[in-house]
Amino acid sequence: MKPHQLILAPSLLAGDHANLAASAARVAGAGLEWLHLDLMDGRFVPNLTFGPETLAALRRAGCRLFFDTHLMLAEPHRYIDSFAKAGANLISVHIEPAYDHGATLARIRELGCQNGIVLNPGTPAEAILPVLDQVDLVLVMTVQPGFGGQPFRRDMLPKLRTIDGWRRERGLAFRLEVDGGIDVATGRECRAAGADTFVAGTSFYKADDARTFSADFAGI
Ligand code: DX5
Ligand code: ZN
Repeated sequence: MKPHQLILAPSLLAGDHANLAASAARVAGAGLEWLHLDLMDGRFVPNLTFGPETLAALRRAGCRLFFDTHLMLAEPHRYIDSFAKAGANLISVHIEPAYDHGATLARIRELGCQNGIVLNPGTPAEAILPVLDQVDLVLVMTVQPGFGGQPFRRDMLPKLRTIDGWRRERGLAFRLEVDGGIDVATGRECRAAGADTFVAGTSFYKADDARTFSADFAGI
């Protein structure tokens, strides 16, 4: 399989929550296509963010970015229809909570979205083996989810190598995404370990110039 092109997906969590449309526009203005949206329920993670109405409002405001929707929810299967309707393009769900992962991933595709499966730092790579052949994306968390601005977990690099190895051996075409503490330097390490899709919250929104940041990132 031909390796995927690198994608940088800024996380709106690190944007200005009083002006999310402008924060999304900064992404488009940097020539990027993906926007990462972090949905938290205060149960699966100890924090709250926004909901489907936020996605719908961004669409109404004219945002045409690819919505990479990361559901950090205890019961994600209950909400995927709402997120698809609100304008999500990709919906990723965690492997850790107990629900029917296979049926949920299938339902996401039925709704016309791409699907993704996510692993927390403490979850072994093997946990996703049962669904590996039915996903468009695997997201390896490189921090404990819940908050932006945490340091990158370098001990996640072997997990990336393992999953990238399975992808090659099995001829699968899913994207391999990393999320948490990603900047140009840590992104480069993940790239070398097989990642092709990079979520960047703090590093993107703190950069003086988003275009320069995205150009630097493209060269990792
Ligand atoms: C963490 C979220 C991340 C977060 C990343 O729970 O899943 O997407 O926004 O933020 P940074 O890049 O600041 O670590
Ligand atoms: Zn995320």
